[in-house]
Amino acid sequence: MGKKVTVVGAGFYGSTTAQRLAEYDIFDTVVLTDIIDGKPAGLALDMNQSRPIEGFETKVVGVTTGTNGEGYEAIEGSDVVVVTAGLPRKPGMSRMDLLEVNAKIVRQVAENIAKYAPNAVVIVVSNPVDEMTALAQLATQFPKNRVFGQAGVLDTARFTNSIAETLAVPVKSVKALTLGSHGDTMVPVPSRCTVDGKPLSDLLPAEKIEELVVRTRNGGAEVVALLKTGSAYYAPSAAAARMAKAVVEDSGAVLPVCAWVDGEYGISGVYLGVEAQIGAEGIKKVVEDKLTDTELAGLKEAAEAVRAKQADVANL
Ligand code: APR
Repeated sequence: MGKKVTVVGAGFYGSTTAQRLAEYDIFDTVVLTDIIDGKPAGLALDMNQSRPIEGFETKVVGVTTGTNGEGYEAIEGSDVVVVTAGLPRKPGMSRMDLLEVNAKIVRQVAENIAKYAPNAVVIVVSNPVDEMTALAQLATQFPKNRVFGQAGVLDTARFTNSIAETLAVPVKSVKALTLGSHGDTMVPVPSRCTVDGKPLSDLLPAEKIEELVVRTRNGGAEVVALLKTGSAYYAPSAAAARMAKAVVEDSGAVLPVCAWVDGEYGISGVYLGVEAQIGAEGIKKVVEDKLTDTELAGLKEAAEAVRAKQADVANL
């Protein structure tokens, strides 16, 4: 059967994600929804008109949804739903400042997903993503493997790009990794970074690596500060689209994502950025690998920081 993906939220992140998914040309249908009248339909029409030029057959369908679930029939049968609905931050804001306002939006969206696309895999990108992923799982009551969040693919791409620019090497020669939260307790993992197979620590002094780690942790804020309005969406949408692709292709790709952790690294009962194998059922399994003592301590610290906040979302 033909594959179908829905992107909820037709702002910058959602529309670029829909475009990337359509251009992969692996879906029958990409559904793009928003609460704004006409906007998703207009964007869908515009994207469909690019089909003869870009050469893809996927149809984009734009639908305006109501607060009581009006219009949600359009998402029926979706294999994957990507949730981008919610406010982005402004300069000076942390992702956590969006918690209350986005929780209301994500809860309402998740309830409608549960009702209209009960078999979908849900990929959450709305911020703060670690908490919004936990909330989406609570509100859908989907099995935890079927709800996960986007953070690590993006953070890793930012880290990779900085390393490649610093060393003036092609991005494809760099392998990097970030784990932990999508925020202050992000854990870039220098011990897992290589350039053409050589450890990063052989190529750069420790202070320079630390500088790149800090820049990665602040990667989103750096873009927000430059844009002045809105937050990043080109790299974020590339990350979310890749994750959706891994699901529909049942590829088994191992990607850093915000997944439910149940004993791995000695951590349990929390959504946290870890590496996981992605397939048709969402998370096939969390993949545990060697970390240095400092990196492991950072991951545990991240788990405790997000655990407290994730408990709060039950009441939001
Ligand atoms: N259902 C569907 N769409 C909604 C809802 C809802 N209940 N509530 C708000 N939206 C839509 C808005 O109408 C808007 O079009 O979500 C869209 C958000 O778009 P932008 O403001 O452009 O924000 P964007 O940059 O796309 O970021 C979306 O992703 O990275 C995160 O922090 C970011 O939480 C933010 C989210």
